[in-house]
Amino acid sequence: MKRVVITGAGGQIAYSLFFRAAYGDLFGKHEPLALYLCDIPGTEAVLEGVAMELEDCAFPLLKEIRIGTNPYEMFREVDLALLVGAKPRGPGMERGDLLKDNGKIFVEQGRALNESASKGVKVIVVGNPCNTNCLIALKNAPNLPRKNFHAMMRLDQNRAAAQLAKKIGVEVEKVTCMTIWGNHSATQVPDFTNALIEGKPVEEVITDKHWLQGEFLETVQRRGAQIIEARGKSSAASAASALIDAVHSLFTPTPEGSWFSTAVYTEGNPYGIEDHLIFGFPCRSKGDGDYEIIADLPWNFFIKEKIAITQKELISERECVQELLQ
Ligand code: NAD
Ligand code: LMR
Repeated sequence: MKRVVITGAGGQIAYSLFFRAAYGDLFGKHEPLALYLCDIPGTEAVLEGVAMELEDCAFPLLKEIRIGTNPYEMFREVDLALLVGAKPRGPGMERGDLLKDNGKIFVEQGRALNESASKGVKVIVVGNPCNTNCLIALKNAPNLPRKNFHAMMRLDQNRAAAQLAKKIGVEVEKVTCMTIWGNHSATQVPDFTNALIEGKPVEEVITDKHWLQGEFLETVQRRGAQIIEARGKSSAASAASALIDAVHSLFTPTPEGSWFSTAVYTEGNPYGIEDHLIFGFPCRSKGDGDYEIIADLPWNFFIKEKIAITQKELISERECVQELLQ
């Protein structure tokens, strides 16, 4: 049985996440699971309501539900921690503007993971700005393997694949090898130069370079902000769905010749990205929850320049939270 904690369990992403998680979309239809729903004091009634709904679904795989607000208790022996709980941005804000408010949440959560979680726990941070929040959690959990910390780039990967598929009218699963380098922010780099459509390089199928370097890139970079403008709230169902995909990719063997994007600790990375950042890379997994970075993708001048910009932004976010990194 897998024990999974979801923070921000009273919020909108979590509400879209629970029901697919409990149905078996994280680890497959044969893996029983316990779901621990964690939020902050004052949210207990909401958590009770969600727990009642989960019970009422009578999911065969869901063996246990716990609710609570103390991360040290809620993270006990968990195998997977989905750190969603944090404030979302509003219209006109960048995700980095949340750093001061949300960063400190991840100090406590890192410490709680360090003390309570299973030593092999896999951690995926969703709360924004997720890369730097993930770095804070990692630095505050010195006894856990650094390799096990991720920030979610999967929503960006899915958005990029969907835009490419829509452009030429193919099914979205025909788009593969979609890397999102760097930060989950407006500087992220959706790498169309290494992606494939029906096994062919994207630039052979979509010859409009102007569109790829301009509208495509900006649409993916700005999609979160566009959704906030339209809904008045940040993306929720698509974020939950991407999180399911992100976990599934770690616990399912990656098809030969393909990869997925996730942001991980840069120490010893094969691309010369500065150490001590959480950076989006192309990765593959044997399906055991672990991963390796795909080491040898070429960068053309355009991509290289963009990667330098996103790296610089992550370095400056790190400087802003230096005191939270111990
Ligand atoms: P929401 O406001 O609906 O819910 C957030 C929940 O987190 C609230 O219930 C709040 O009480 C809880 N929370 C706050 N501090 C907490 C703590 N210390 N421990 C546990 N719970 C805590 O927000 P949402 O729409 O669910 O979004 C959550 C976060 O996810 C935001 O930061 C948002 O920007 C981010 N997000 C990230 C991505 C991504 O791709 N990485 C996508 C969408 C949203
Ligand atoms: C998204 O990409 O939709 C989220 O990170 C929410 C946001 O603030 O953009």
